[in-house]
Amino acid sequence: MSLPLAVLVSGSGSNLQAIIDRIEAGRIDARIKVVLSDKADAHGLVRAAKHGIPTRVLPFGEYPDRAAFDAALLAAVRESGARAVILAGFMRLLGKGFIAAYRDRILNIHPALLPSFPGLRAQEQAIGYGVAVSGATVHFVDEKMDNGPIVIQAAVPALPDDDAKSLGARILALEHRIYPQAVAWLAAGRLAIDGRKTRLAPSGAPLAHMDSPCLVNPPLEEGF
Ligand code: GAR
Repeated sequence: MSLPLAVLVSGSGSNLQAIIDRIEAGRIDARIKVVLSDKADAHGLVRAAKHGIPTRVLPFGEYPDRAAFDAALLAAVRESGARAVILAGFMRLLGKGFIAAYRDRILNIHPALLPSFPGLRAQEQAIGYGVAVSGATVHFVDEKMDNGPIVIQAAVPALPDDDAKSLGARILALEHRIYPQAVAWLAAGRLAIDGRKTRLAPSGAPLAHMDSPCLVNPPLEEGF
């Protein structure tokens, strides 16, 4: 039985698109029951609608406080029948109640090699620091920001003339490969949390070809 997902977005939704595409290609054994956004103008909602996926908007400002927003978000996810939650550029912290309800079943992607540069504008933070290597991290979500056990990381070079935009584009291209891969592993029941670590059950799947200088670990499988 394919894993029913809720995907939460706040913006462009390019990671959502990458996940939709891999589901449609038969690479991820999951179905997206709903795409939720805190922003009515999030392009991710348009992407979802194009694929016949139900969408809902919960504008943060329309709730009296954070707890009320969190409760509404949780209710919407539950109503959809989702059994796991994928944060794809969702720019709000989830409340404790939400995280408790979906413990160990929420994934997030962050555009840096955590624990470096958590929080907002990670690409800008990395450029400002002058790093030579940055990347992206998919991790399970816990109560602390950008903190839960890491599922997969991909590293890319930061080039001498990079700005946040050019570095961000290089990172985003890999996000579109590692996030669908992580969702596929989750959907296949191959991820187990072991303290700070995520253990990936092996499958013997052939590995993907990588044609640009980067390091991805665990390695991507063919099709991602
Ligand atoms: C992605 O780069 C994602 O890693 C980042 O927002 C972007 C969303 O792009 N998320 C965060 O910074 C979360 N802290 P998308 O809407 O095109 O997928």
